Amino acid sequence: MKDLRTLILAAGKGTRMKSDLAKVLHPLWGRPLIQYVLEVAQSVGSLKICVVLGHQSDTVRKYLDRSIATAVQKRLLGTADAVRSASSFLKGFRGDVLILCGDTPLLTKETVRSLVKKHRTSKAACTFLTACVQDPYGYGRIIRDVVGNVAAIREHKDASDAEKAIHEINVGVYCFRGPELSETLKKVTLNPKKKEFYLTDIVELLVSKNLKIETVTTGDANEGLGINTREDLAAAGEILRYRILRKWMLEGVTIVDPKTTYIDADVEIGQDTTIRPFVVIENNVKIGKNCSVGPFTRLRPGTRLKDHVEIGNFAEVSRSELGEHSLMKHFSFLGDARVGSRVNIGAGVVTANYDGKNKNVTQIADEAFIGSDSILVAPVKIGRKAVTGAGSVVKKGTVVPPGKVAVGVPARVISRRKS
Ligand code: UD1
Ligand code: CA
Repeated sequence: MKDLRTLILAAGKGTRMKSDLAKVLHPLWGRPLIQYVLEVAQSVGSLKICVVLGHQSDTVRKYLDRSIATAVQKRLLGTADAVRSASSFLKGFRGDVLILCGDTPLLTKETVRSLVKKHRTSKAACTFLTACVQDPYGYGRIIRDVVGNVAAIREHKDASDAEKAIHEINVGVYCFRGPELSETLKKVTLNPKKKEFYLTDIVELLVSKNLKIETVTTGDANEGLGINTREDLAAAGEILRYRILRKWMLEGVTIVDPKTTYIDADVEIGQDTTIRPFVVIENNVKIGKNCSVGPFTRLRPGTRLKDHVEIGNFAEVSRSELGEHSLMKHFSFLGDARVGSRVNIGAGVVTANYDGKNKNVTQIADEAFIGSDSILVAPVKIGRKAVTGAGSVVKKGTVVPPGKVAVGVPARVISRRKS
């Protein structure tokens, strides 16, 4: 979007999380919280993005893409001070400045886009997002005059009883005209109660100069949910989980039981695949079309399932690939395995991929048949159409030639496969 810069406030300590990990790095569905906000900023087409860091700034910075600028707030003196600490990012900028908080992962790009749009069409000095919530406790309340124009944002701690009864709250998403923001920021004074400089004080200052303020109210009050505690994290996680599932259902994936399906944010699933109950699919997993996964399956990062693959109950697959029409239907584990197409992985098969030091690769060529309870001590190679007998232990370094049968403990190659 033309002339738009975004500032993401993320310097806060997140005291109520009671964690050694910075709040914005707590994960939801395989991503740190801040990444959700960054994605919103990127998708509204912001030309430049700057994140204000403070607490654990070095750790948080490592998670940010190099294209993202950072500013450091040395002492956490409130949200207005956080914006001031990014003054070099804003200096001389005459476009619009979008301000977001790093701890609101439910905010959607559609909402932010409509905020920026309203800001531009109305030519306001500031447009900010409000939500009408059941329990406004802790949030800044929106004070309006008799005709409904915004007069101020009153922080909970400073609100009178009458003001506390207001259910329209400040979400913490603002779009400012750059020059007005820089100008007014200078005038914000220290809040005597909290000993902080409040960004929200700007609204009253702009009103006193007769400058136009607009608001957009979210249809979905959840969008404003800011993560302050682990309880908030779980509540936001639940909403995001359904958003992810809904996206896949709209793409043509059957999810038999959304209540027990857990899919990370960065996963790909092909059309007409069915995900059965009690399934966990982690980040960086790609599933083809017409597959069946579950019930009770865990697919871990680096897993690739080609089309028509079936993974059944109590199966775990990690950093492994299964070719088309391969089956792995009952309680088994594949790690670092390259499995061809039309392979049958019998019940209870385990790749022993870790020797205590290294992760080793198991290669299973097309149409091989891995008998029930086989243990493949990697690295091993199972040739095309080869068979391992039930209960066999295929020792490290073994190559079972194409079409041969290997049996026993340790497994010996005894004959050709009867087709
Ligand atoms: C703020 C708003 C409140 C709004 C609420 C929405 C102010 C004064 N109040 O309150 O009106 O209803 O958000 O969730 O702005 N931060 C910094 N540096 C600081 C302080 C905060 O970067 O010195 C960052 C935090 O990391 C966080 C954001 O600013 O991402 C909001 O700060 P927080 O302390 O959570 O503000 P609230 O009290 O929730
Ligand atoms: Ca907050």
